[in-house]
Amino acid sequence: MAKTAWKAGTLLAPVPPALISCAHGGKDNLITIAWTGIINSDPAKTYISVRKQRYSYDLIKKSGEFVINLPSQHIIRSVDFCGVKSGREVDKFSACKLTREKASQLDCPMVAESPVSIECKVTDIVELGTHDMFIADIVAVNIDERYIDEKGKFHIEKCALAAYAHGQYFALGKKIGSFGFAVKKKKKGKKIQNPIPYITCRNSKKKICPSQHLNYNKFEKEVLYMQIFLVFLLKVLHFL
Ligand SMILES: Cc1cc2nc3c(=O)[nH]c(=O)nc-3n(C[C@H](O)[C@H](O)[C@H](O)COP(=O)(O)O)c2cc1C
Repeated sequence: MAKTAWKAGTLLAPVPPALISCAHGGKDNLITIAWTGIINSDPAKTYISVRKQRYSYDLIKKSGEFVINLPSQHIIRSVDFCGVKSGREVDKFSACKLTREKASQLDCPMVAESPVSIECKVTDIVELGTHDMFIADIVAVNIDERYIDEKGKFHIEKCALAAYAHGQYFALGKKIGSFGFAVKKKKKGKKIQNPIPYITCRNSKKKICPSQHLNYNKFEKEVLYMQIFLVFLLKVLHFL
């Protein structure tokens, strides 16, 4: 299928609709930021791009710190609210019934309801045009203990994180792989799942599902028909 070329734009998705907490001079605030990401591993560095017009802009610039609170699906309504209402008019913590939690390294509060809160100290501000990019060192990562097992493993899949894509919020779906799985050697004796896809029904565990054969491609269909025919032939021979 051919692709349609659109004019240059911000369609990179999914991104986290991050809930940023910030504070300065006795005032704190929450702002939703989608333009964020990791830009270096060691030292761990991140960025958020913020328009100068935002109430949060000065709080972050003056304090030189902010917290990136990753949103779970349970607080997605608050995330949207914090992205359309300004802290100039409303106390977003109270309006959203979100809980301020003390950060370990910063004066700025974290959001207790968020499963992961990343404490950041601003190192550079880059003016890009519409937005200024606050580049920051990650100075601490706080994870809700409910998602860490007794061996210290963090189960991020249990956090029910939300994603933002093309103006819409999504619940992160099921796990479909893990880093390096494409080249990982199979353990001896371990069965490969679905080695023959054409005899496995698309939406159930049944081996052959003729009612759904329309989903198969031409080759798969031919093999499927051959199998059905063979089973039929065997049954006929059995009766003879
Ligand atoms: C999903 C979403 C993502 C957003 N991403 C950004 C962003 O990356 N940068 C930005 O400056 N504003 C962004 N906004 C807009 C601000 O969150 C919004 O203008 C907010 O009301 C500003 O709050 P404040 O005035 O209290 O700082 C986003 C809004 C939404 C809903």
